[in-house]
Amino acid sequence: MARHHLVTGGAGFVGSHVVAALLAQGDRVSVFDDLSTGHRAAVLPGAELVVADLADAAALEAVFASARFDTVFHFAALSLVGDSMRQPLPYLRNNIGNGLALIDAAVRHGVQRFVLSSTAALFGRPSGGPIAENEVVDPGSPYGESKAALERALAWAGRIHGLRSAILRYFNAAGADPAGRLGEDHRPETHLIPLVIDAALGRRDAIAVFGTDYDTPDGTCIRDYIHVTDLATAHLLALDRLSHGSVTYNLGNGAGHSVRDVIRAVARIGGRTVPHRLDARRPGDPARLVAASGLIRAETGWQPRYADLDAIVAHAWAWREAHPLGYRGDMPPSV
Ligand code: UFG
Repeated sequence: MARHHLVTGGAGFVGSHVVAALLAQGDRVSVFDDLSTGHRAAVLPGAELVVADLADAAALEAVFASARFDTVFHFAALSLVGDSMRQPLPYLRNNIGNGLALIDAAVRHGVQRFVLSSTAALFGRPSGGPIAENEVVDPGSPYGESKAALERALAWAGRIHGLRSAILRYFNAAGADPAGRLGEDHRPETHLIPLVIDAALGRRDAIAVFGTDYDTPDGTCIRDYIHVTDLATAHLLALDRLSHGSVTYNLGNGAGHSVRDVIRAVARIGGRTVPHRLDARRPGDPARLVAASGLIRAETGWQPRYADLDAIVAHAWAWREAHPLGYRGDMPPSV
């Protein structure tokens, strides 16, 4: 019988790509999403969509009562580092409160496996060099703090209730479905690659480079960009690995690219110049976040297919160019 998974935030950027991968392997998927940042059109046909808020206890109970889920995948969260520095308490309340309610419901309803979307934002002051799973967790933002709290909660749910968890700490998710069905559509968009593409396409004035005085070779922040489809594959492999017990994996390509590198890659792929201006640092941004992902490679055989920054940018460019209105352009006028 096909496995049946509950995916919170399955209408969002990473969640929708994981749903696509689960459907492709023949699994059943129920998406639970309030569509506050996700999109109906990002839920591929074949998945069921329950439009509800995780803070709605009755809706959460109803979905767990409606089916026996093999796994809960939890993506639904507020996810912007900079935003969380401006409104820390809503971030902590939403992400920790809703996450705990979900873990509690999963345990009460006998779910055996839980996959958490976690983050490199756990590492606020990394010691330098690629970051492995044993790096000290020391969040530099309330967003990172909220994910650290859920990681700890899952450790206790595992110890006391036997819930198995896969904690996947993404570095910078980017790119788009290579088949062109799904892409990145945040409103407002705050992520570097889509904003640089918009500047190159003339859809915005100029991209602001946040900080040029970091202790990095060109003075701008370094990040490890990972293709969203490679992230999706990692979720499937981590899920299978749960038969051996709970896992925590850092997920990146192990290559660092500066903000200026990204601007150059977009100019190269798009064949356009990218208008940009130098700006102040954005609070909460560490200088350098690069993953050591040897553990997931060794334990699951995970191999990124699109590790190259140009491949990531090319897919992001293709989707953004084809969808000037994002998913809004995919909606029938009556919806
Ligand atoms: N940046 C700019 N100008 C912009 C936007 C971003 O210079 O207009 C810079 C940022 O300062 C940062 C880099 O580009 O140095 C990447 O910024 P993003 O906003 O694209 O991504 P973040 O690194 O802030 O955060 C992302 C996810 C988080 C996750 C984190 C982990 O949004 O959820 O990666 O590394 F926690």
